[in-house]
Amino acid sequence: MKKCLLLGNGGREAVLAEYISQGFSLYAVLPYENPSIIEYVKKSNGKFLLGDPFNKKIVKNFINSEGIEYCVVSSDNLLQEGLIDLAKSLGLHTFGPTSKGAKIEWSKTYALNIVEQIAPEMIIKNSHVTDEATLKHIIDTYKDDRFVVKPEGLTGGKGVKVGGIHFKGKEEGFTYAKACLKESGNVIIQDKIEGREFTVMCLTDGEHIVTTPITFDYPYRFDGDKGPGTGGMGCLSFENGLLPFLEQEDVDKCSAVMQKVIQYLNQDALEFNGVLYGGFFKCQDGIKFIEFNARFGDPEALNVLNCLETPFSEVLENICQKTLSKENCKFKKEYTFTVYVVSPDYAIRSNREACIFTLNQEKILEKGVKIYFASTKPIEGNMYSSVGTSRLFAIVGEGKSLEEAKEKVYASIQGNLSDNLDYRKDIGKIYLH
Ligand code: GLY
Repeated sequence: MKKCLLLGNGGREAVLAEYISQGFSLYAVLPYENPSIIEYVKKSNGKFLLGDPFNKKIVKNFINSEGIEYCVVSSDNLLQEGLIDLAKSLGLHTFGPTSKGAKIEWSKTYALNIVEQIAPEMIIKNSHVTDEATLKHIIDTYKDDRFVVKPEGLTGGKGVKVGGIHFKGKEEGFTYAKACLKESGNVIIQDKIEGREFTVMCLTDGEHIVTTPITFDYPYRFDGDKGPGTGGMGCLSFENGLLPFLEQEDVDKCSAVMQKVIQYLNQDALEFNGVLYGGFFKCQDGIKFIEFNARFGDPEALNVLNCLETPFSEVLENICQKTLSKENCKFKKEYTFTVYVVSPDYAIRSNREACIFTLNQEKILEKGVKIYFASTKPIEGNMYSSVGTSRLFAIVGEGKSLEEAKEKVYASIQGNLSDNLDYRKDIGKIYLH
């Protein structure tokens, strides 16, 4: 079997590990023993190396000594740091953009400038600010806190703060914007708009694109969309690939823009393949652009890969051969539903002790769902420990209706997790219509 290297260690990498291992021997460099990734490495007769995936020397030696031929990277920081550039320089077939291609994610102003050229009608009024006096002047033009503060660089999906939700009043917004400015020398102030947010992810070989089912993410920490923004507490997708408030025409508009963005990024050389993730708002006056990511979303990857009908190994081959098409990348007509389980402190306090927890895997799996571990390492049996401060594990269900998929996931959670864990109880309930 061909050998494929996966770098990274979250829930998104856990689902990638599962799907890569169905057609490749899976190799992994990861900083701790993520139980899902290790399971798929072993099942596919691959090998893992516990080490820092950012360390290019370690990764290079592993690739050379194991004779690895393919490499998949879908984590923002690893892409920015040029791990795909390294794999390409060693002659591997790669899935994921170079650092230059990933600039579409790690520079918000770069992304805005490109969309301004391609689809000016999708741009929300914004100012790119590089000094404090101008920042004060821009914020003073707002009557109240109806603006959004966007840091320029990577923030793991958690840096954007919306007036009236994440900060109250102009002063608090100004204080946060000043901190962003100090951090990177740049900050974006954007009008706050009313609309429904949705995600469009396109698989691409650098030339052709295939739009995956649209996903709806629940980024807020608590039920009722309360609390701070997170990487995502849950996510769903519908059997028709749309959402109740979206038409095919809306998605087609986004896909057309994303196709042009990919063309722009690859105008001189192949800098971008893999996944382009577009965050958009549907508003009364049309579709508005929020941001691009140069990778699968997390949890969005869990929904979309579980919806894939074509084996992922074939999709990966077609991406590497530049022969991707709708005919060789098909999706099942099913609903998918993901809930992330976290420590009660998640996104609230960052300096905390490890969360030791148990889950009854056998009982959970009996409900026909899947478990994907994220920032978790095993202790023994059904006992695990958190690693760092991120999400612990996700449970994913599929169904012929949203209710069926949702029921499976929540039924699997009931009574099968230790009491020191938390999750949102309202995924799929609100804000869809
Ligand atoms: N769920 C949002 C992200 O992956 O950035």
